[in-house]
Amino acid sequence: MKEQLSSLPDGFRSVVIGASGGIGSAICEQLETNSRAGDIIELSRKRDGFELLEESNIRAHAARLEPSVHLIVCATGALTINNIGPEKSLRQLDPDAMLSQFRVNTIGPALIAKHFLPRLDRRTRTIALFLSARVGSIGDNRLGGWMSYRASKAALNQVVRTASIEMVRTHPSAIVASIHPGTVRTPLSEPYSRGHSSVSPDEAARTILRTANDLTQTGLFVAYDGTFIEW
Ligand SMILES: NC(=O)c1ccc[n+]([C@@H]2O[C@H](COP(=O)([O-])OP(=O)(O)OC[C@H]3O[C@@H](n4cnc5c(N)ncnc54)[C@H](OP(=O)(O)O)[C@@H]3O)[C@@H](O)[C@H]2O)c1
Repeated sequence: MKEQLSSLPDGFRSVVIGASGGIGSAICEQLETNSRAGDIIELSRKRDGFELLEESNIRAHAARLEPSVHLIVCATGALTINNIGPEKSLRQLDPDAMLSQFRVNTIGPALIAKHFLPRLDRRTRTIALFLSARVGSIGDNRLGGWMSYRASKAALNQVVRTASIEMVRTHPSAIVASIHPGTVRTPLSEPYSRGHSSVSPDEAARTILRTANDLTQTGLFVAYDGTFIEW
């Protein structure tokens, strides 16, 4: 079987942010068994004090990345924050809860983009993935509900798309993408996944990395299986 991430150079260096999460930890495990992988830098709030609500903290972690890296995975995110889950309808919208969703799902990853994307190797193919969600698609929204989470992921997609365009100027071989992992059995989805088909974090990590490896265009919003998702 073809080794994962064959499009990256031998000894490629990776950073996984949100390494304590269901999907983040499964991605770390995949990388750890990859014989071509070089250093794997795993960052999490629990173990490393990586707090994505504080720019100074993100800046300090990014500043330690030397030499440059070839793969960045931002696997952070939240659906329930301070025990407040997604809204069923507009009536439940709460400004503080909505702001919290934007801070974790949009502003944090945007700051990660700001400080970590410049750390990608300019001389070779590199990949930066931001875990988004299909429910962040505006065109695909036919159900309503989950307003804050949807809006925060739609905004994340815009951040990723904008960053990808800027990166072309300095890092012409970089692929910067938003990816929907599918419904994955993790603490985030557990309260909401009943009745939906779901995959294990291990399976999700494999398909995410396979799809990332095959991406030939930057600035896309794709699903785990490589299909494009409308914005
Ligand atoms: N699971 C699914 O079915 C599904 C579906 C669609 C999209 N997604 C997206 O996939 C990504 C990963 O989800 P998951 O299912 O793996 O969730 P998870 O198991 O809950 O992991 C979330 C990760 O985000 C980190 N995090 C949250 N808030 C943070 C903060 N303020 N500072 C630093 N780290 C923070 C968590 O760190 P701690 O461990 O310290 O809390 C954890 O590492 C998310 O963006 C999610 O929206 C998941």
